[in-house]
Amino acid sequence: MSKFIQIKKKINSFKKKTFSIPGDKSISIRFILLSSLTKGKCIAYNLLKSEDVISAIKSVRKFGIKIVLKKFKCEVYGKGLFGYKYKKNLILNAGNSGTTARLMCSTLIDAKYPIKITGDKSLKTRDMKRIIKPLKLFGVKLKDKKGKLPIIIEGSKFTKPINYTENLGSAQCKSVVMIAALKTVGITKIKSLPSRNHTELMFKNVLKVPTKIKHKKKYDFIEVKGMNEIAPFNYKIPGDISSASFLIVLTLLSKKSELTLRNININPSRTGIIKILNMMGANIRFLNKKKLNGELIGDIFVRSVNKLQAINLNSSLNSSAIDEFLLIFLVASRCEGVSSFAKLSELNKKESKRLDWGIKILKMMNVKAHKIKNNGVKIWGNKNFNRNKNYIVKNYLKDHRIFMVSVIAALSLGGNWKIYDPDSFKTSFPNFVELLISLGAKIK
Ligand code: S3P
Repeated sequence: MSKFIQIKKKINSFKKKTFSIPGDKSISIRFILLSSLTKGKCIAYNLLKSEDVISAIKSVRKFGIKIVLKKFKCEVYGKGLFGYKYKKNLILNAGNSGTTARLMCSTLIDAKYPIKITGDKSLKTRDMKRIIKPLKLFGVKLKDKKGKLPIIIEGSKFTKPINYTENLGSAQCKSVVMIAALKTVGITKIKSLPSRNHTELMFKNVLKVPTKIKHKKKYDFIEVKGMNEIAPFNYKIPGDISSASFLIVLTLLSKKSELTLRNININPSRTGIIKILNMMGANIRFLNKKKLNGELIGDIFVRSVNKLQAINLNSSLNSSAIDEFLLIFLVASRCEGVSSFAKLSELNKKESKRLDWGIKILKMMNVKAHKIKNNGVKIWGNKNFNRNKNYIVKNYLKDHRIFMVSVIAALSLGGNWKIYDPDSFKTSFPNFVELLISLGAKIK
């Protein structure tokens, strides 16, 4: 297999195209982990079959949980809240998946023997202090490598509920505390900066865990009462808006194109990118909205626009667009005027240093961009893109979103691109290249 893909031509205009997008990654991983704690058979439809979700499945199977992956559904046979079979010398490899590594740590707080949790090169660079701290407060014993993986969880028979303030706006941290609360007697209280709320919605609407949620000005207040057995459930997983966003931006930046994406999760805690693009002058619409399992689902309609304007964004939409900033930077580079974005330090804690990479890719494209104070970014829109130049993207720790944003830049702007590690997109969007080819993209 080739070490890189090559794109030498912009995509031609496409119209009246309608697609479904694979299932939401956050919800798919939560389904695997949470269904494994129920007593009985759970079924998910449209589960994402990407590498990150496979890492979650492999991890859960290590504890004697049967998971059957079929063409259109996934069956998980849970054995109850304390039904994991713990063996000596177990090692979990979460691959590239931060969500799996972090959330799994909280499902293992009752471990009977030490369990080692590790991951790939990228995952081993990521901050685990953010989950080690609350887990230790629950009374869980664990060892770590200076706040990074590998972590060894030694478990505890007697955890105690905690009052925790989550100040990063991290859904993974919030979820770790909520899942640990499931296996802990009493009421755990969390004060959390807003972040994607799929765990809360699943607890309340699907698992029927006694959960209270209040939204106040700056924080969400969540209470979880632990130690209730969870009844099995079925879940139809909506399409992933983070994956959809690559096609949305491609359509927006291409000439005279239109696209409808069906059954996408448009939960407001995930639609920051749509709000931001519409502020820049796009006209992206949600159609056929409905609620399922507490999640808002709808179709997304997008068409190209000729003129986009720069924006100055404060940090209030950051958490609802956290995985989409590479795309937002790309759009800002096509806007008229200078855009600025605030407080994006979390971006450098992702699969790669995405804040630095976003700026690096723009600079390669001859766009003026640099960091401003408090990890903000300033981007000078520049429509003069040199289509005769060679563009190379490599050594980016196989970050799936860097690969995909580079492909979208190539297809929407032109130029002669070589993008290395051509399998990277399989982490989150396994049919990304296939969908683009069916839209008319020439990718070799
Ligand atoms: C995720 C939460 C976000 C996001 C990640 C998935 C989740 O991370 O970037 O891709 O499934 O909870 P943080 O919670 O660390 O912000």
